Amino acid sequence: MADSPDITSVLTEGRVFPPPPEFSRQAHIKSMEQYRELVAQADRDPEGYWGARGKEEIFWKTPFQKVLEWKSPFAKWFVGGTTNLSYNCLDRHLATHGDKTALIFEGEPGDQRRISYREMHAEVCRLANGLKSLGVQKGDRVGIYLPMIPEVAVAMLACARIGAVHSVVFGGFSAEALRERMNDAGAKVVITSDGGWRKGAAVPLKGNVDAALPEMPTVEKVIVAQRTAKTAPAKGPKDILWNELVSGQSATCEPEWVDSEHPLFILYTSGSTGKPKGVLHTTGGYAVYVSLTTRWVFDLKDSDTYWCTADVGWVTGHSYVVYGPLMNHATAFMYEGAPTTPGPDRFWEMIARNKITILYTAPTAIRAFMRLGDEHPKKHDMSSLRLLGTVGEPINPEAWIWYREVIGRGRCPIVDTWWQTETGGIMVTPLPGATSTKPGSATLPLPGIKAEVLDKDGKPVPLGSGGKLFITRPWPAMLRTLYKDPERYANTYFSEIPGKYFTGDGARIDQDGYLWVMGRVDDVVNVAGHRLGTAEVESALVSEGRVAEAAVVGRPDELKGTSLVAFVTLKKGVEPTAAIKQALSAHVAKEIGAIARPDEIRFAEGLPKTRSGKIMRRLLRDVAAGRQTTGDTTTLEDLNVLAALRNEEE
Ligand code: PRX
Repeated sequence: MADSPDITSVLTEGRVFPPPPEFSRQAHIKSMEQYRELVAQADRDPEGYWGARGKEEIFWKTPFQKVLEWKSPFAKWFVGGTTNLSYNCLDRHLATHGDKTALIFEGEPGDQRRISYREMHAEVCRLANGLKSLGVQKGDRVGIYLPMIPEVAVAMLACARIGAVHSVVFGGFSAEALRERMNDAGAKVVITSDGGWRKGAAVPLKGNVDAALPEMPTVEKVIVAQRTAKTAPAKGPKDILWNELVSGQSATCEPEWVDSEHPLFILYTSGSTGKPKGVLHTTGGYAVYVSLTTRWVFDLKDSDTYWCTADVGWVTGHSYVVYGPLMNHATAFMYEGAPTTPGPDRFWEMIARNKITILYTAPTAIRAFMRLGDEHPKKHDMSSLRLLGTVGEPINPEAWIWYREVIGRGRCPIVDTWWQTETGGIMVTPLPGATSTKPGSATLPLPGIKAEVLDKDGKPVPLGSGGKLFITRPWPAMLRTLYKDPERYANTYFSEIPGKYFTGDGARIDQDGYLWVMGRVDDVVNVAGHRLGTAEVESALVSEGRVAEAAVVGRPDELKGTSLVAFVTLKKGVEPTAAIKQALSAHVAKEIGAIARPDEIRFAEGLPKTRSGKIMRRLLRDVAAGRQTTGDTTTLEDLNVLAALRNEEE
């Protein structure tokens, strides 16, 4: 019996790791009693609870009058307050932590820079003044397309300082993806660099900006930082070099005191249909929530050297590389390049050398390291580590245990943090000094967060069952809308059950009330911790010219969580060849970026569709995974199509 796979899996899931007592003793949140007391306070009086956090976490130039104004589905937090996020990250700490290192930067070639809070403040002020000299005003949108170098944090903070709204585009995205996002945002300025180092080569960021520029009519200026070139990059008519722009500028700049609800950033994320969604976050609520969660979840102290490996192009980079650590006057580590350059132990070598104490990374990275072998981390003294975190997708128990044993040497608690671009900050997570963890579970919602798993009638599922994950009470860091599209905002997030925020995820709740997030329920797939809309990949495939129709689905993948399988029908007269597969793959990389490149392309004569013409991706997911279809096929227009796809496989 003990060997039956069912029982083994139950046993695996049943492993429980209480927080080490010595960790709990020194932690910000020390026990489940303390956690439960906070939850009870927040449940009794949510506005009272958040009002108190609002006052404690950040500096307000003008105090807020009202904690929450909720006209479902639109929220305003800390109404009437004015503040500035750059002030809260920098100026506020100058007297007490001015000489403390804010950022330890390491480039892929091995160059290092340590930047103190005072130096960061001066850099940010210079760039803020530079932006003003270009005519950038409060409310204007600024695109940021940079590698992971300190300038990316400086650029974000400079925007926040003058009330400009930043929109960071991941440096791995193509010219096409940049163009689409910048046009939707109506960016006035784009901040980029000549390149960034990745696997020993320079990623041509400026080249991509140049390619997109003729079709980005709102962009008036391109600010170019020098990173990879030995000499100053060539200048086009709209270009201005970062160094030239900031050189004559004053190192002080009065922050623009903005309303709590003033937009802070737009971050584009994939939707199940159509173009990317411009998730809009505002200032006050986001700041309060991110400041608090950074300290509690990572148990952040002044003595820590904290490393979140996420790129600033994703929300994790916004909240937990830049804003959260800086609001907490922490020392954050930032690394530019690939995890395995020059060798498979680059991460571990950096942790040992820089005495990093907290590591926050993604399951996909953990699985990739696992595959590379234990000998690489084992070579290094990583005894400085005291806490580990993961984010981006469900972590499988084997990877969790490996992370704990091989990276954390069995000593470090793991925080598996569930959240989304839309939630702004971590929502469901262990508190490392309080919560007993179970490998694969994000455990419990933070105090004040009401996360519920509901069935199709909107009723809470019984413990032990699965359903859809909703957040049923507003929270300070929630997205406020989708940029210029409040209707899509309401439809996407608040129409499944009116007034309740639908996460798009399926989840199970166990006997202890722990949440097990199972992934997306719609046609968005999570590849290597990045959310991709299958619709976008499909439209990229079709735009190549020879494709009639494409359907892209996710398939479980040991390494990446999900890999992409594309089913493609070719236009009449086009012969299916390996060369076409290669061309399609390259085309997707160009249109969206290498992360969206399908792992497998399959040619098909036809795609399974409903009578109304909707592609039945559910069936394709089964085909891609080599499963038998168990679900309903009665709406399928032509069963032969499905049979043909299966035969194709053999
Ligand atoms: O499906 C969930 C998964 O990632 C989605 C959010 O993706 P994105 O907006 O790109 O933000 C990623 C970083 C916050 C979620 O809807 N996800 C994220 N974290 C976890 C997770 N799934 C399971 N466990 C997690 N810890």
